[in-house]
Amino acid sequence: MGKSESQMDIMEKSGKPGKRRWTVAEISLSILLLLVSCALAGLVVLYTSAVKEQSNRPSVSKSSTREGQLFRSDHNNVCTTADCVSAAAWLLQNMDKSVKPCDNFYQYACGGWLERHVIPETSSHHSVIDILRDKLEIVLKGVLETESEQDRDAVKKAKVLYSSCMNESLIEQRDSQPLLRLIESIGDWPVASDDWNTTTGETWSLEDTLATLTARYHKKVLLDMNVWTDDQDSRRHIICVRLLLITAQTISTVIY
Ligand SMILES: *[C@@H]1O[C@H](CO)[C@@H](O)[C@H](O)[C@H]1NC(C)=O
Ligand SMILES: *[C@@H]1O[C@H](CO)[C@@H](O)[C@H](O)[C@H]1NC(C)=O
Repeated sequence: MGKSESQMDIMEKSGKPGKRRWTVAEISLSILLLLVSCALAGLVVLYTSAVKEQSNRPSVSKSSTREGQLFRSDHNNVCTTADCVSAAAWLLQNMDKSVKPCDNFYQYACGGWLERHVIPETSSHHSVIDILRDKLEIVLKGVLETESEQDRDAVKKAKVLYSSCMNESLIEQRDSQPLLRLIESIGDWPVASDDWNTTTGETWSLEDTLATLTARYHKKVLLDMNVWTDDQDSRRHIICVRLLLITAQTISTVIY
């Protein structure tokens, strides 16, 4: 009995302090702890779902379009005008995307071009520049053949020059007359004249003729002349005179 009494005593003693521990503060703290752990769990779930979504997105675009990786798929920042689209298509055509860029970059970047173009027989090379030049010439032809009242002087002159070059019937008709007149204007030329000895031959001067050719026609014969920065003193300019002859050796004279 004494034992059981003491046992009950112990049980009562041990039970009483346990009941006492659950104060209001303790209960509210444990509720708070529960809420915090719930919030943490919610955050973890949100985070993992966000990570999953992110890892899913590129794999979708990878499978749908390989270009998605090369060019931004954000449609708001992509130029979609007709010119942009055709330029982009042209670039893609010139590539060979069956080759990995790290294996053979040249084939990757230019494979399509090589497949679609051959060097014309009349040319030693063929490039994008040649194609652009041809296109530009067609555009220029249209511009030069269209008269306009609003043209500036320089454009008018270019149009006159172009039409004079294209007027073949008039060129045939005039024959060598323009050149002979030009030779006359620079003081004649022995082989172009029947009576050289008796007319101009006596007074003809090579220097005068070269000067006229250079000054009036910007045509360099025998001598080339230009103003250049002095190689030995870049603060100065020099007149550089160079002999234009068939010999490989060129003679340079510097006049300060
Ligand atoms: C060629 O020039 C002549 C004379 O200036 C002119 O009458 C003729 O219309 C021109 N022909 C062409 C095709 O421009
Ligand atoms: C011109 O004169 C040179 C000598 O000054 C002479 O050798 C040459 O035969 C002459 N030519 C003509 C076509 O008279």
